[in-house]
Amino acid sequence: MRSTLKPTPPTPTVCASDQPLAPALLTPGRGVEGPVTRTMAALLNAAQMGLAEAYVNGAEIPDDWMRGLVRTTLPPLFRHWPGLLAPYPWVLQESEQLAESASDLMRVQYNLPQPMLNRMLGDWPTIYPKYSMGLWETGAEDLRQSQALMIDQLIDRLEINDGDSILDFGCGWGCIPNYILARFPNVRVTGLNLSSQQCDYVRVKMNDPESLLSSGRFELIEGDMNAVDFQNQFDKILSVGVFCHVGNLSGALQKLASALKPKGQALIHIITVRISNNMSSGFTHKYIFPHGRYWSHDAIPSRANHLKTVKRWYLNGRNYERTFGTWLDRFDASQELVSTLDYGMDYERFRRIWRFYMLLLGTNFGAADGEFNGNGQYLLVHA
Ligand SMILES: C[S@@+](CC[C@H](N)C(=O)[O-])C[C@H]1O[C@@H](n2cnc3c(N)ncnc32)[C@H](O)[C@@H]1O
Repeated sequence: MRSTLKPTPPTPTVCASDQPLAPALLTPGRGVEGPVTRTMAALLNAAQMGLAEAYVNGAEIPDDWMRGLVRTTLPPLFRHWPGLLAPYPWVLQESEQLAESASDLMRVQYNLPQPMLNRMLGDWPTIYPKYSMGLWETGAEDLRQSQALMIDQLIDRLEINDGDSILDFGCGWGCIPNYILARFPNVRVTGLNLSSQQCDYVRVKMNDPESLLSSGRFELIEGDMNAVDFQNQFDKILSVGVFCHVGNLSGALQKLASALKPKGQALIHIITVRISNNMSSGFTHKYIFPHGRYWSHDAIPSRANHLKTVKRWYLNGRNYERTFGTWLDRFDASQELVSTLDYGMDYERFRRIWRFYMLLLGTNFGAADGEFNGNGQYLLVHA
């Protein structure tokens, strides 16, 4: 329950790298939802889908050519026509459900064969597969180090103290919980995840004496964020790379608020885009993240009714460009193994879908020197 004596939240801090970049050239009501912009967005989406389908169906398009196309076309869209990056009306609106298409998302994305994901994302004794941005800009030399540095930064920004109870909302393979448990001998972590396959991986670690997930200080909740009802409140809540699957920000923030102690803090880390509207693509919606969207960088702070943003940061997209580039190299280098696994479709078709995905997203993040499409971090307290 919330305390009646609410602490005064600190003054919101916007870090130096977090200034808005693009003026709202096409804001809702002034064009983004208008028929001309919608038609142009549909045409652009059709052109991108045409290229994607050609590649998926076997067209030989060199990687450098595709990267060059994205690097040339995307910056003017970010700067002058951001509304064209929202191909469907739902991208601009909050959905009815917290997360739409959750079972489709698990099928096409999060329950794919584990050996492929281990190879692509990396699977080390402390850093388990982690499917979110690594931090390279402070000098990481490899993927594992970039992910460890990213988690260290999350720990600092969430101000985790030994003894905290922590909820990881969308915990993946338990990489972040395991790392936090290793750094703090008295924290307790609860992880929520809908993916049965990722939960299977976590349960193996929970029975492995080498893993901190077996320490008795970790609890796994296998379930859907749409339905979950937390029995406890936590000192700290962390959510990394999950809110691109949240269609209803207000409802999700309300759910997090209900699970946060009165003086607790939450840190949401998500892909964001520093334009005036949210962004998606027909290709990712169809093949990679059904109903996935990148929220405008200002979207979370604008939903102040349950949790209030007290600090915010923008992480340059170059960090994610390098992470995606490394995942792609690791995927390409593992063909002998990954081509033998069952993806529910012809393997060559799967390989091409995933190569297009990693090429497209990686290049998007690096376009315009990473200043538009990067990651946002938001530190929130009770409003
Ligand atoms: C991009 S991954 C990030 C995982 C982890 N936080 C990390 O950084 O590696 C997104 C995670 O959200 C989970 N997820 C997506 N939709 C969900 C839902 N409706 N309910 C619960 N978990 C969900 C996925 O299964 C996956 O573990």
